[in-house]
Amino acid sequence: MANIKLSNVVKKYPSATVIHGVDLTINEGEFVVFVGPSGCGKSTLLRLIAGLEEITDGVLEIDNAVVNHVDPAERGIAMVFQSYALYPHMSVEQNMGFALRMNNVPKKEVQERVQQAAEILQLDHLMSRKPKALSGGQRQRVAIGRAIVRNPKVFLFDEPLSNLDAELRVDMRLQIAKLHEDLKSTMIYVTHDQVEAMTLADKIVVLRDGKIEQVGTPLELYRSPANEFVAGFIGSPKMNMLPANVVSKNQNTVVIELPNASEITVNADTTGLEVGSEVMFGIRPEHIYVDQKLENQVLFKTDAVERLGNSTYLFGEFGGHTDCRVHLPWDKEVRRGETLSLTFNSSDCHLFHKGICISNT
Ligand SMILES: Nc1ncnc2c1ncn2[C@@H]1O[C@H](COP(=O)(O)OP(=O)(O)O)[C@@H](O)[C@H]1O
Ligand SMILES: [Mg+2]
Repeated sequence: MANIKLSNVVKKYPSATVIHGVDLTINEGEFVVFVGPSGCGKSTLLRLIAGLEEITDGVLEIDNAVVNHVDPAERGIAMVFQSYALYPHMSVEQNMGFALRMNNVPKKEVQERVQQAAEILQLDHLMSRKPKALSGGQRQRVAIGRAIVRNPKVFLFDEPLSNLDAELRVDMRLQIAKLHEDLKSTMIYVTHDQVEAMTLADKIVVLRDGKIEQVGTPLELYRSPANEFVAGFIGSPKMNMLPANVVSKNQNTVVIELPNASEITVNADTTGLEVGSEVMFGIRPEHIYVDQKLENQVLFKTDAVERLGNSTYLFGEFGGHTDCRVHLPWDKEVRRGETLSLTFNSSDCHLFHKGICISNT
């Protein structure tokens, strides 16, 4: 177990700067997920921590010691990649023990540590198999086993589940969560999938263009996204976002007008607002209700209905904005073309001014 601290970490390539001064503290035993769209710098940041890339500027500490120029092998970390990178000619057992044998660990100890990891990962019955005789999920477990046997202070995972099919991903996600519970090691996990981030993380770091947009627990990011980017990235289906204008305000509430002139009241810090200010109004599909009397009401014109069995999704227009989504209970019957009266709570409304959240949620 170890803590990790990044202070103003920068990575420049000759062609571009890809990490722009990242400050981040990862506590001992924490499960931290780096999430963001493809190309935002997740892998680069992980590789900087691993020592596979050199930091251009700033300070990286592991266990309170500066490691900027420490060799990757000396950092006490183990990394698991999306491509399992197993040796095809070696058995599961040999693959898992390889790094230890290379480090001249006594044979008996190698055996014990491999056996222990195999039990954790339920690989004991596959020890003599070659990788080609394993399923994708089993291969990824061997790759994780190879990291476990090294007993690292920190585990780094770079999109380890991206090559697996949807069902197996859910399965492996639970196994990785259990692994963290059992080992209690510091883990950093990179993914572009916000569902993986929400389900695994103690702490999520949302990245965009080589900068941190927000750090928080999954529910903090869901309830209180700091800006439009995080609001749109966390949560599925996405938050509805409608351009709006300020009609009137007092200290803690603001009345805004949607594109079709319907008005909504939102609790917000209104200091930077004036009548006429352009803002962005956000409401999650699952915070919109039918048949309930709540503070805000809109008319919704249904363009399409998807009934999934466990829930019903409506697609259509409200507030003068097309491309809106609503999540209703599974048994709600709605027809295409139907106009509904929908309601929502002010406390579920998000408001953004110049991209930054100003609502009090
Ligand atoms: N060796 C390199 N030279 C120049 N640019 C690079 C290099 N490696 C990565 N990049 C760029 O850095 C950015 C971040 O890449 P990466 O960390 O792989 O993103 P992610 O893992 O979030 O998809 C991308 O724009 C990528 O093109
Ligand atoms: Mg990557």
